[in-house]
Amino acid sequence: MQTDIKNNYCGITIKSNYIYIVSILKIAKLGHPVLLKKSTEISKFSSDALKKIVYDMSETMIDYNGIGLAAPQVHLSKRIIIFRNPDIDEEHKIQITPLINPVFEPIGDEKEDDWEGCLSIPGMQGLVSRYKKIKYYGYDLEGKKITNEAQGLHAKVVQHEIDHLDGVLYTSRLSNKNAFGFEKEIVDFWKNEQNRK
Ligand code: NI
Repeated sequence: MQTDIKNNYCGITIKSNYIYIVSILKIAKLGHPVLLKKSTEISKFSSDALKKIVYDMSETMIDYNGIGLAAPQVHLSKRIIIFRNPDIDEEHKIQITPLINPVFEPIGDEKEDDWEGCLSIPGMQGLVSRYKKIKYYGYDLEGKKITNEAQGLHAKVVQHEIDHLDGVLYTSRLSNKNAFGFEKEIVDFWKNEQNRK
Protein backbone atom coordinates (compact mmCIF):
# COMPACT_ATOMS: atom_id res chain seq x y z
CA MET A 1 0.00 0.00 0.00
CA GLN A 2 1.23 3.45 -0.87
CA THR A 3 1.05 5.84 2.01
CA ASP A 4 1.94 9.46 2.29
CA ILE A 5 2.30 10.81 5.77
CA LYS A 6 3.14 14.38 6.56
CA ASN A 7 4.79 15.19 9.83
CA ASN A 8 3.69 18.68 10.74
CA TYR A 9 6.53 19.49 13.12
CA CYS A 10 9.46 18.05 11.16
CA GLY A 11 8.31 18.85 7.68
CA ILE A 12 9.20 15.29 6.71
CA THR A 13 7.18 13.47 4.10
CA ILE A 14 7.48 9.72 3.94
CA LYS A 15 6.32 7.84 0.88
CA SER A 16 6.72 4.15 1.22
CA ASN A 17 5.29 0.76 0.56
CA TYR A 18 4.49 0.08 4.15
CA ILE A 19 2.10 1.72 6.55
CA TYR A 20 4.18 3.97 8.69
CA ILE A 21 3.95 3.48 12.42
CA VAL A 22 5.51 5.98 14.79
CA SER A 23 7.67 4.40 17.45
CA ILE A 24 8.83 5.87 20.72
CA LEU A 25 12.32 4.53 21.15
CA LYS A 26 14.10 3.31 24.26
CA ILE A 27 16.69 5.76 25.54
CA ALA A 28 20.16 4.50 26.46
CA LYS A 29 21.11 5.52 29.99
CA LEU A 30 24.44 6.48 31.52
CA GLY A 31 26.61 3.38 31.80
CA HIS A 32 25.49 1.92 28.46
CA PRO A 33 28.56 1.55 26.21
CA VAL A 34 26.73 2.96 23.14
CA LEU A 35 26.95 6.39 24.79
CA LEU A 36 30.76 6.20 24.85
CA LYS A 37 31.27 5.11 21.23
CA LYS A 38 32.24 7.36 18.33
CA SER A 39 29.40 7.27 15.78
CA THR A 40 29.81 6.71 12.06
CA GLU A 41 28.77 9.10 9.29
CA ILE A 42 25.63 8.74 7.19
CA SER A 43 26.44 8.29 3.50
CA LYS A 44 22.99 7.63 2.05
CA PHE A 45 20.44 10.43 2.21
CA SER A 46 16.75 10.61 1.26
CA SER A 47 16.05 7.01 2.27
CA ASP A 48 12.86 5.99 4.05
CA ALA A 49 15.04 4.35 6.70
CA LEU A 50 16.78 7.65 7.51
CA LYS A 51 13.46 9.52 7.57
CA LYS A 52 11.93 6.91 9.87
CA ILE A 53 14.85 7.18 12.30
CA VAL A 54 14.51 10.96 12.46
CA TYR A 55 10.73 10.77 12.71
CA ASP A 56 10.95 8.27 15.60
CA MET A 57 13.70 10.29 17.30
CA SER A 58 11.41 13.34 17.10
CA GLU A 59 8.49 11.48 18.69
CA THR A 60 10.83 10.16 21.37
CA MET A 61 12.28 13.59 22.15
CA ILE A 62 8.80 15.14 22.41
CA ASP A 63 7.56 12.29 24.59
CA TYR A 64 10.49 12.76 26.98
CA ASN A 65 10.20 16.56 26.87
CA GLY A 66 13.73 16.98 25.57
CA ILE A 67 15.12 19.84 23.52
CA GLY A 68 17.73 17.74 21.76
CA LEU A 69 18.48 14.10 21.02
CA ALA A 70 21.39 12.29 19.37
CA ALA A 71 21.11 8.90 17.62
CA PRO A 72 23.46 7.07 20.07
CA GLN A 73 20.90 7.88 22.78
CA VAL A 74 18.46 5.59 20.95
CA HIS A 75 21.14 2.88 20.57
CA LEU A 76 22.09 3.88 17.05
CA SER A 77 25.73 4.76 16.56
CA LYS A 78 25.19 7.15 13.63
CA ARG A 79 25.93 10.85 13.22
CA ILE A 80 22.37 12.16 13.48
CA ILE A 81 21.09 14.78 15.89
CA ILE A 82 17.78 16.57 16.25
CA PHE A 83 16.98 19.64 18.30
CA ARG A 84 14.31 22.21 18.90
CA ASN A 85 15.35 25.71 18.06
CA PRO A 86 14.88 27.50 21.37
CA ASP A 87 14.77 30.88 19.57
CA ILE A 88 11.48 30.00 17.88
CA ASP A 89 8.12 30.51 19.54
CA GLU A 90 6.76 27.00 19.90
CA GLU A 91 3.33 27.82 21.21
CA HIS A 92 1.56 26.78 18.03
CA LYS A 93 4.12 24.71 16.22
CA ILE A 94 7.09 22.72 17.43
CA GLN A 95 9.95 23.06 15.02
CA ILE A 96 12.57 20.35 15.06
CA THR A 97 15.78 20.54 13.08
CA PRO A 98 17.38 17.25 12.07
CA LEU A 99 21.09 17.55 11.32
CA ILE A 100 23.09 14.77 9.71
CA ASN A 101 26.92 14.51 10.01
CA PRO A 102 27.01 17.77 11.98
CA VAL A 103 30.13 19.71 12.94
CA PHE A 104 30.58 23.00 14.73
CA GLU A 105 33.31 25.56 15.17
CA PRO A 106 33.40 28.24 17.84
CA ILE A 107 33.04 31.91 16.91
CA GLY A 108 35.55 33.50 19.23
CA ASP A 109 36.83 31.68 22.28
CA GLU A 110 34.38 32.99 24.82
CA LYS A 111 32.83 30.28 26.99
CA GLU A 112 29.96 30.31 29.41
CA ASP A 113 28.84 28.05 32.28
CA ASP A 114 25.26 26.86 32.34
CA TRP A 115 23.23 24.04 33.88
CA GLU A 116 22.50 21.12 31.57
CA GLY A 117 20.56 17.92 31.74
CA CYS A 118 20.46 14.92 29.44
CA LEU A 119 17.75 12.35 28.67
CA SER A 120 20.42 9.66 29.17
CA ILE A 121 21.15 10.94 32.69
CA PRO A 122 17.59 11.48 33.91
CA GLY A 123 16.87 13.55 36.98
CA MET A 124 20.33 15.08 37.17
CA GLN A 125 21.99 18.34 36.21
CA GLY A 126 25.52 19.60 35.86
CA LEU A 127 27.19 22.96 35.37
CA VAL A 128 28.88 22.80 31.98
CA SER A 129 31.25 25.11 30.16
CA ARG A 130 30.48 25.64 26.44
CA TYR A 131 31.30 28.09 23.67
CA LYS A 132 28.94 31.05 23.67
CA LYS A 133 28.73 31.48 19.91
CA ILE A 134 29.21 28.86 17.23
CA LYS A 135 28.85 28.20 13.56
CA TYR A 136 27.52 24.77 12.64
CA TYR A 137 27.18 22.72 9.49
CA GLY A 138 25.47 19.53 8.54
CA TYR A 139 23.01 18.04 6.08
CA ASP A 140 19.25 17.73 6.02
CA LEU A 141 17.45 14.47 5.25
CA GLU A 142 17.80 15.03 1.51
CA GLY A 143 21.53 15.67 1.76
CA LYS A 144 21.27 19.43 1.34
CA LYS A 145 23.93 21.35 3.25
CA ILE A 146 22.78 23.41 6.22
CA THR A 147 24.93 26.20 7.66
CA ASN A 148 23.86 28.25 10.64
CA GLU A 149 25.11 30.40 13.47
CA ALA A 150 23.88 30.06 17.01
CA GLN A 151 24.32 31.52 20.43
CA GLY A 152 22.87 31.05 23.90
CA LEU A 153 20.79 27.92 24.48
CA HIS A 154 20.67 27.12 20.76
CA ALA A 155 24.51 26.97 20.65
CA LYS A 156 24.64 24.88 23.82
CA VAL A 157 22.14 22.30 22.58
CA VAL A 158 24.04 21.83 19.32
CA GLN A 159 27.38 21.40 21.16
CA HIS A 160 25.80 18.97 23.66
CA GLU A 161 24.25 16.82 20.90
CA ILE A 162 27.39 16.76 18.72
CA ASP A 163 29.36 15.65 21.79
CA HIS A 164 27.07 12.57 21.98
CA LEU A 165 28.26 11.56 18.48
CA ASP A 166 31.82 11.44 19.79
CA GLY A 167 30.88 9.47 22.89
CA VAL A 168 31.23 12.51 25.17
CA LEU A 169 28.71 13.19 27.92
CA TYR A 170 28.30 16.53 29.70
CA THR A 171 29.57 14.93 32.90
CA SER A 172 33.07 15.02 31.42
CA ARG A 173 32.77 18.78 30.74
CA LEU A 174 31.72 19.98 34.19
CA SER A 175 33.14 23.40 34.96
CA ASN A 176 33.55 22.21 38.53
CA LYS A 177 33.57 18.53 39.43
CA ASN A 178 31.23 19.15 42.37
CA ALA A 179 28.66 20.98 40.25
CA PHE A 180 26.63 17.85 39.49
CA GLY A 181 23.68 16.28 41.22
CA PHE A 182 19.99 15.53 41.42
CA GLU A 183 17.72 18.30 40.13
CA LYS A 184 16.11 19.07 43.48
CA GLU A 185 19.45 19.33 45.28
CA ILE A 186 20.87 21.48 42.46
CA VAL A 187 17.90 23.85 42.74
CA ASP A 188 18.04 23.92 46.56
CA PHE A 189 21.79 24.21 47.07
CA TRP A 190 23.23 25.70 43.87
CA LYS A 191 20.66 27.72 41.94
CA ASN A 192 19.04 29.31 44.99
CA GLU A 193 22.52 30.00 46.35
CA GLN A 194 23.52 31.67 43.07
CA ASN A 195 20.32 33.78 43.15
CA ARG A 196 21.12 35.01 46.64
CA LYS A 197 24.47 36.41 45.51
NI1 NI B 1 22.32 14.47 26.12
